[in-house]
Amino acid sequence: MSKTIVVIGAQWGDEGKGKIVDLLAARFDIVVRYQGGHNAGHSVQVGDRSFVLHLLPSGIVHPGKICVLGNGMVIDPKAFFEEADRLTAQGIEVSPDRVKISSRAHLILPYHRALDHTSEERLGNEKVGTTLRGIGPAYEDKAGRRGIRTADALVPDVLRSRIERNLEDANRIIQAYGGEKLDADEIFNEMLRLTERLGNFISDTTHYLNVAASEGRSILLEGAQATLLDVDHGTYPFVTSSSTTVGGAICGTGLAPHRLTGVLGIVRTYTTRVGEGPFPTEMLEGEAELGQLIRERGREYGASTGRPRRCGWFDAFATRYAAEINGFTSVALTKLDVLDSLDEIKVCTGYKLDGRVCDSLPAVSQDLSRIEPIYATQPGWKTSTVGTTEMSSLPANARRYVEFLSAQIGVEIGLVSTGPERSQTIVVHHSALGSWLND
Ligand code: IMP
Repeated sequence: MSKTIVVIGAQWGDEGKGKIVDLLAARFDIVVRYQGGHNAGHSVQVGDRSFVLHLLPSGIVHPGKICVLGNGMVIDPKAFFEEADRLTAQGIEVSPDRVKISSRAHLILPYHRALDHTSEERLGNEKVGTTLRGIGPAYEDKAGRRGIRTADALVPDVLRSRIERNLEDANRIIQAYGGEKLDADEIFNEMLRLTERLGNFISDTTHYLNVAASEGRSILLEGAQATLLDVDHGTYPFVTSSSTTVGGAICGTGLAPHRLTGVLGIVRTYTTRVGEGPFPTEMLEGEAELGQLIRERGREYGASTGRPRRCGWFDAFATRYAAEINGFTSVALTKLDVLDSLDEIKVCTGYKLDGRVCDSLPAVSQDLSRIEPIYATQPGWKTSTVGTTEMSSLPANARRYVEFLSAQIGVEIGLVSTGPERSQTIVVHHSALGSWLND
């Protein structure tokens, strides 16, 4: 049966989407990224080989799958070719036959990176903690109607005049904050060289995807970042600048909404966050050692920037919010094994603000920073679950923990990940996710 499934992180990112998309990709014809850029970092482990992907969808490591970079993305051509060349050296085919870049996707130019730095410096203590890849400024230009789309860049006159016009403003800001003025000719010549090579990859992917869907081809839409980093629904202003949630999958591809047949949430058994911003269940002070243990066991360091991730307990209240926005059909629960050695595991089941229980996630980030989490404590299992492939083989307390999280989120759990490798996975065959993986 034809299927179009969206995969979305339910927390602040790094939930382990790379592995799950990789498992699913084998069962789909086309894998699509719909937002963000090379701020993302997905790790995929195939046997003893490891691939890190920033711009390309995880489907790229499966020979023969078509990969699409949708119109909702912002693409740094230099980063694209660095990644493509690295993957080619690892034996992966990255050719225009299997990689299609939307003619409506926006480009990240060197001045976007410079503006990202300037903007963070200006914010000082209130900085967002961005990846400094130029993502926010490129989306600002898109919304400001002065961005340069991939198709525009193929017309040298248009490329030159837009660069000249945009750089005038960008240089004013960069220089006002002590940065070095950028040169329009230099940027134009570099972009011309890169976009000439990019040209072969560029096409109308919106039409391509809608035709593919109507012909019954299966499509996997791969979200980057995650729900709580969504520019509308996330913990604003500590968010990324794109729509990471289910609506973004529609806007960012041009696929008609009725094509979607399922939404998969990726949820980790604990929570992490990189960059600044409120994090109600963060392990701080008395729990800092525990946070460090989880960071080491879970290898919680950014795949893109190498930054240590902040670690915290599972936040069922925020995950319920993610389930509500995205309408998850099924959930993949990742990194169960990271909690193997804990005596007790806390789960945040609700929020209190100024002594009152919250009905919904507060909109103001200062309020989110003052949240008092309501915790339920679950017993640990103190046994290794690494590599377990059957739910019935899990220690009883681990199984109870999984069931408790499912009840808290209000969505079935279709898969539990017990290690980074493809084989280290429990699939619940009678779930929606089980059916997507099996047919
Ligand atoms: P930007 O996307 O670089 O503008 O960064 C905005 C916020 O999103 C920062 O807090 C980043 O740390 C965070 N962020 C961006 N990409 C990712 C990701 O792939 N995983 C986790 N956090 C991310």
